[in-house]
Amino acid sequence: MLAVEVQDLSKTFRSGWFPRRLTHALRGISLSIPRGIIFGLLGPNGAGKTTLLSILATLLLPDAGRARVLGHDVVREARAIRPRLNMASGNSNFIWSLRAPEILTFYGRLYGLSGWALSRKVDELLALCELEEHRKVPYHELSTGLKQRLALAKSLVNDPELLFLDEPTLGLDPDISARMRAQIKALRQDRGTSILLTTHYMREAEELCDEIAFIKSGEIPARGTADALKRQIRIGDVIALRLDPPVWDRLADLPGVLRCVSQDGRIECTVDSAEKRLPEILRLLHEHGFVVRDLDVHEPDLEEVFVELAK
Ligand SMILES: Nc1ncnc2c1ncn2[C@@H]1O[C@H](COP(=O)(O)OP(=O)(O)O)[C@@H](O)[C@H]1O
Ligand SMILES: [Mg+2]
Repeated sequence: MLAVEVQDLSKTFRSGWFPRRLTHALRGISLSIPRGIIFGLLGPNGAGKTTLLSILATLLLPDAGRARVLGHDVVREARAIRPRLNMASGNSNFIWSLRAPEILTFYGRLYGLSGWALSRKVDELLALCELEEHRKVPYHELSTGLKQRLALAKSLVNDPELLFLDEPTLGLDPDISARMRAQIKALRQDRGTSILLTTHYMREAEELCDEIAFIKSGEIPARGTADALKRQIRIGDVIALRLDPPVWDRLADLPGVLRCVSQDGRIECTVDSAEKRLPEILRLLHEHGFVVRDLDVHEPDLEEVFVELAK
């Protein structure tokens, strides 16, 4: 059974009376996601990520098309799936004066937990999300990283089979977002939770997700594993070089090199992975008597991927 099955899903927001504005947030999206994997929706701000997640989480109604979650229709059978899924957002906000245990207790009650089972659940989640030391701190005094961890803890109160994470590392420092990613991976590994997450960080999608779909202007122009997408879109890391002598024809034919352009004595080589290919390229250059005058490696950003996709 699939975790998510979406066919021709559309959502248009109407706002204002005069002039009346229409925003086509989703324009006929189709997507199927198997169970037990981490699936990433990767796209820039305004792409329609939150809209899609909200429809799948039964929080928003679509205008047209069909969506099934864990085998049930999200509109007609919402009640059947709600207990089995949950969602956390990097933008969530809880009542400012409440403490983590109180917030988790509140949400636990919404899912019908009470008494001993409820307090055991709250303790378990505080431990799992490393919030125990912060039991007594009111929500508004928690750091952004702790707030995000609390949002994650909240989304686990009903042991969901399917978890929607909307930009779970939004605004986090690199080391804290790395820990968050490790925690998300552990959920899939230890509990077998199916996870659909959104992000606008290419690297995050690549590191965390078994499969990725690009979403842009309410459409999904490409999907696949990170490696397959890079091959398909021919986007990878860029190695920029200045050589002496300045040109070497064979560079473009080396393994892993997707594309090579040279301009004004500068060569830009796009490779599938700089980490993998750079040592070999440097070795060969040295072997053939080239001097590397300047070297710069940069990762493609999401914009470059979308520029490629739009071609
Ligand atoms: N409630 C709403 N009313 C009007 N427009 C909305 C509403 N929610 C989202 N939108 C618009 O729909 C588009 C997609 O938004 P969203 O799904 O939030 O994108 P993302 O999460 O990828 O940043 C954006 O143009 C946004 O402004
Ligand atoms: Mg969003």
